[in-house]
Amino acid sequence: MTETSGLFVTFEGGEGAGKSTQIRLLAEALRRRGHEVLVTREPGGSPGAEAVRHVLLSGAAEEFGTRMEAILFAAARADHVEEVIRPALAKGMIVLCDRFMDSSRVYQGVTGNLDADFIEALVRVAIDGTVPDRTVILDIPAEFGLARAKGRGEGQSIAPDRFEREKTETHEKRREAFLDIAAAEPERCVVIDALQAQEDIAAQILDCVEPLLERVPADRHAETEAAQ
Ligand code: TYD
Repeated sequence: MTETSGLFVTFEGGEGAGKSTQIRLLAEALRRRGHEVLVTREPGGSPGAEAVRHVLLSGAAEEFGTRMEAILFAAARADHVEEVIRPALAKGMIVLCDRFMDSSRVYQGVTGNLDADFIEALVRVAIDGTVPDRTVILDIPAEFGLARAKGRGEGQSIAPDRFEREKTETHEKRREAFLDIAAAEPERCVVIDALQAQEDIAAQILDCVEPLLERVPADRHAETEAAQ
């Protein structure tokens, strides 16, 4: 990120990889050090994008095809970047985002069978230069992730969303696709084994974000408090 003073970290991975828990833990650790942190998610994160989220996750757009869905994800992302992410970065905040452009590359591009050039064009328009500084990919074998995601819904009447409903094979393909992105962009992406203990995962995530913290302002008072 050259045009802003903040830090933009995205979290990617399959279903049930533990992204939300790890985002919460990282946000807490960074706030204890005096940083201003914004936690957000996709699809959604801004009023316009949240409206589109419902259409996508309910499956209402599924009958119109994967191209239509990909364009809707991009529309939601463009709004989210413009209304929420970029203004927060401009204020020097650390933005932690649950899924971002790599999810479109994987879900719509690879397993949605859309042309990579088409997806890249949509990504370019949607992010308009706001590339994540670091992307944490939580890697988990599909069968474990799906079992976890399913457990999450038990007793809470949470039905699997449009994308969770797909076959294990599809989820395994997504896992491979995230690993391919990480291999292609090693400077941005870090792969972390999501089968490890929660605290070990949290420590590794903090380690990979730490070198970037120098350039974001921290309130010294809060930093002193956290050290006590
Ligand atoms: P959600 O329940 O918010 O999150 P998660 O699975 O990360 O816990 O579901 C979001 C779903 O949307 C998820 O199945 C992945 C999918 N998705 C895409 O297909 N493309 C995208 O660009 C994004 C951001 C998400």
